[in-house]
Amino acid sequence: MGLLGLILLGAPGSGKGTQAVRLAESYGLQHLSTGDLLRDEVRRGTPLGAEAKDYMDAGQLVPDALILGMVRLRLEAGREKGFLLDGFPRTVAQAEALDGMLAAVGRRLDHVLFLDVPEDELVTRLALRRSCPGCGRVYHLKASPPKAEGRCDGCGQELIQRPDDTESVVRDRLKVYASSTQPLVDYYEARKLLRHVVALGDINAIQAQLRVILGEPGA
Ligand code: AP5
Repeated sequence: MGLLGLILLGAPGSGKGTQAVRLAESYGLQHLSTGDLLRDEVRRGTPLGAEAKDYMDAGQLVPDALILGMVRLRLEAGREKGFLLDGFPRTVAQAEALDGMLAAVGRRLDHVLFLDVPEDELVTRLALRRSCPGCGRVYHLKASPPKAEGRCDGCGQELIQRPDDTESVVRDRLKVYASSTQPLVDYYEARKLLRHVVALGDINAIQAQLRVILGEPGA
């Protein structure tokens, strides 16, 4: 197997981050989550973070110019590994820009893993999500709770609810997803890259389905 190039596509709360961390570890991939990168910029108070924050808090997309520069730099720097894109691309314009970036650095996209989850389940998951502001670990109060209530298992920090996980912002994020990101399903289906996964139920069982699609690491 050559270097893998993957996209995890799905609505807010579909489990992209949850599955991406596990896949990146077992397949040795560069994990690029544009949401995590942006939250890190906000936390560090950079000019990019300052520009992105209001869009994120309102559940709107951050302008392409900011996103594309951030992704391009990292794809160029990580050439020795395969890549796993999580939360990018999010619009057809970003997908077209990605095609150009990959061609420029001689890298290839193998699969787009589409995590399909019904809307009522997305809303429940986001309401029950808690995140660690220190190391970024993600929990679900029922499906994957922390060992000690309200504390991160990894670094012990107090868990928070993301500012964009409130009910009204979640509703806006789902609308933005439907109008801007859902068209990517057709975009990648037409390129025969889309792999459809019903991402409901046990987190490990979903991971196992993804591994069947990809083949075992190193095989
Ligand atoms: P981003 O961070 O990418 O948010 P998102 O796409 O809305 O995705 P989420 O992080 O909410 O969900 P996820 O699919 O990763 O699910 P998770 O694994 O956490 O983006 C945030 C913002 O940044 C955007 O709104 C935008 O402003 C900006 N942005 C980012 N990228 C951009 C781009 N390319 N262009 C422009 N703007 C951009 O799981 C969710 C919950 O469910 C967790 O609690 C988890 O524990 C739980 N869970 C996971 N799997 C299961 C399961 N099988 N059963 C039960 N619970 C589960």
